Amino acid sequence: MARPKVTVVGAGQVGATTAFLMLQKGLADVVLVDVAEGLPQGKALDMMHARSIEHFAPVVSGTNDYADTAGSEVVVVTAGLPRKPGMTREDLLAANAAIVRSVIPAAVEASPEAIVVCVTNPLDVMTQLAWQVSGLPCARIFGMGGVLDSARFAFAIAEETGASIDTIDALVVGAHGEAMVPLPRLSTVGGVPLTELLPEDRVEALVDRTVNGGAEVVALLKTGSAFYAPAASIAAMLEAILGDTGAVLPSCVRLEGHYGIDDVYLSVPAALGSVGVLDIPELPLDATELAAVRDSAASVAEAVASAGI
Ligand code: NAI
Ligand code: 2OP
Repeated sequence: MARPKVTVVGAGQVGATTAFLMLQKGLADVVLVDVAEGLPQGKALDMMHARSIEHFAPVVSGTNDYADTAGSEVVVVTAGLPRKPGMTREDLLAANAAIVRSVIPAAVEASPEAIVVCVTNPLDVMTQLAWQVSGLPCARIFGMGGVLDSARFAFAIAEETGASIDTIDALVVGAHGEAMVPLPRLSTVGGVPLTELLPEDRVEALVDRTVNGGAEVVALLKTGSAFYAPAASIAAMLEAILGDTGAVLPSCVRLEGHYGIDDVYLSVPAALGSVGVLDIPELPLDATELAAVRDSAASVAEAVASAGI
């Protein structure tokens, strides 16, 4: 059976790590595309050199030409500048908007049937822009943010409680940024809500650590931002899409009345499959949680408006 073809735009830290994970998981043949000449070709060759050691079946190639990406089932967009210490994701807006405006039409022209997963920051604003310039139905273009933020929440909970990571079910929704909304009441350790397991001040500390998880990595790396956990998060979404599993993952999807929010891209749980977003089942949020999600959406809408998108 022919393997699916996935294009990864941007052969930097996130893009290349995602490509290698896809090979190791046997998910798809991968085309890495980048503006930098030689970079995607060199990284693809390096990965292929590992084939006899890792014994993966799929192949990866590198290119600077979108013609080579034609007919991809999925396009993952990681092209763009990453954060440096002291920068917020929003500081990347102008430069990355120009990149998104150029790469999305080229990728979609080559693969008009593809599902597009946006990763470039600031995530929610860039996903909205990508949707607008793509001409695709919103079910086929969405972003990765909530999976990563939820994974960071799970890590923080495991560190605090000493519980096995496998017993933790953590959920973060909202914007991928300062306005993200960790949901302690709906996050559990062995089925027990975090709010019943820990005192309020400890829960607050875990929420803070989660919101600052990306910045914590940036401060240590100094030269860029996180890429291992982001790549694993993208791979989890690709497994749902390519395997048509219907897995419900927090994804940056376009809300059209969900949670009383209209015309905003924001991370909420969404069922993903081979046609993209299958469903957006609404969480049973209480009034405080719902207000936080709406505030988060308002911050994204404001950023979109002030960027003139
Ligand atoms: P990086 O700098 O390592 O790689 C970016 C790559 O994009 C570079 O190879 C660069 O040459 C390429 N690029 C720039 N302009 C391009 C264009 N017009 N066409 C094709 N390729 C182009 O950065 P890294 O660490 O891989 O991060 C990439 C993006 O992903 C950043 O915006 C970062 O903030 C974002 N990010 C988002 C996450 C999320 O949860 N949504 C998590 C981690 C990173
Ligand atoms: C992160 O959360 C930079 O958005 C990226 O690590």
